[in-house]
Amino acid sequence: MHVYNLLQKELSGKIIQNESLANHTTFKIGGEADYFFIAQNNDSLMKAVKIAHDLNLPFFILGGGSNLLVSDKGFRGLVIKVQSSKLKVQSDKIIADAGVSLSKLVDLSIKNELSGLEWAIGIPGTVGGAVRGNIGAFGKEIAQVVKNVKTLSISHNITIEQYSNTAIRFSYRDSIFKHNKDIILSVEFELKNGNKEKSRNVIQGYLLERKESQPLDCLGAGCIFKNPRDKSAGELIDSAGLKGKKIGNAQISEKHANFIINLGNARAEDVIRLIEIIQEKVLGEFGIKLEFEIELVGFE
Ligand code: EPU
Repeated sequence: MHVYNLLQKELSGKIIQNESLANHTTFKIGGEADYFFIAQNNDSLMKAVKIAHDLNLPFFILGGGSNLLVSDKGFRGLVIKVQSSKLKVQSDKIIADAGVSLSKLVDLSIKNELSGLEWAIGIPGTVGGAVRGNIGAFGKEIAQVVKNVKTLSISHNITIEQYSNTAIRFSYRDSIFKHNKDIILSVEFELKNGNKEKSRNVIQGYLLERKESQPLDCLGAGCIFKNPRDKSAGELIDSAGLKGKKIGNAQISEKHANFIINLGNARAEDVIRLIEIIQEKVLGEFGIKLEFEIELVGFE
């Protein structure tokens, strides 16, 4: 049987062929995925991973698509978009499926007078992506509030595993899940008892600060590079005189130089050329090799 038919059979006819990934990234850039499936819950996520594994079909797990640059050629294989949505509060803990949006999580924490996620206000993406990439802002990071994580672990077999905070080996924008093949299913957060009004005030401050310093109303993928130790990538790119530089319809933001923005129909190729120019110039002028914070998909 053809791969498409096998996938359709296992996944209740919900496979889409040749889906544009530009529709699923905040950059609005990217070619087509051969096969595309939306996993509405952890059972269907597991099913999709299992069938791809059994068929030896390359697969990619997509969350909010907010930290991604997808190649113009797209992805040869199956893209599984995680839209699992279970979310519950248990005293000072919140248990969230990987597909829950970060904004929903922050919202729920504040409504329940739980504090510890205020800094994440306005950050796009899903719980799974946020934990995998240990996202952070304003000197805080998600590692500080993660108690444990349930994953699908893939080797010869597919098993369900549980990781405690220390087992996840969080570091700056990094976790064990970037290095092993585990797929995050759900996360238990441990928060502190807080106060709605106080949290809302703190959030207002963060929102203002981000609005002033980041091009939030433009299409992009957040910061392109990680900050090198004790330095700001944005400041280095700015000092190299690269703000505003354009290739095709991709531009280094005038507002914050660690952001590349899509002015409309930019190609991944344009973004890559800007990235190369930045890396070359910053290396030449400051002797610093900037490393990616975003992830690249479909470039090999
Ligand atoms: N700066 C410049 N020019 C620029 C941009 C920044 O001179 O074009 C200077 C600023 O004036 C400031 C310093 O660089 O003195 C640091 O800038 P900022 O406060 O904007 O912080 P950042 O280090 O550039 C980090 C995170 C952001 C997060 C902000 C706010 C990384 C790579 N970036 O940015 O995270 O929102 O702090 O806390 O860690 C992301 O991860 O996608 C992201 C945007």
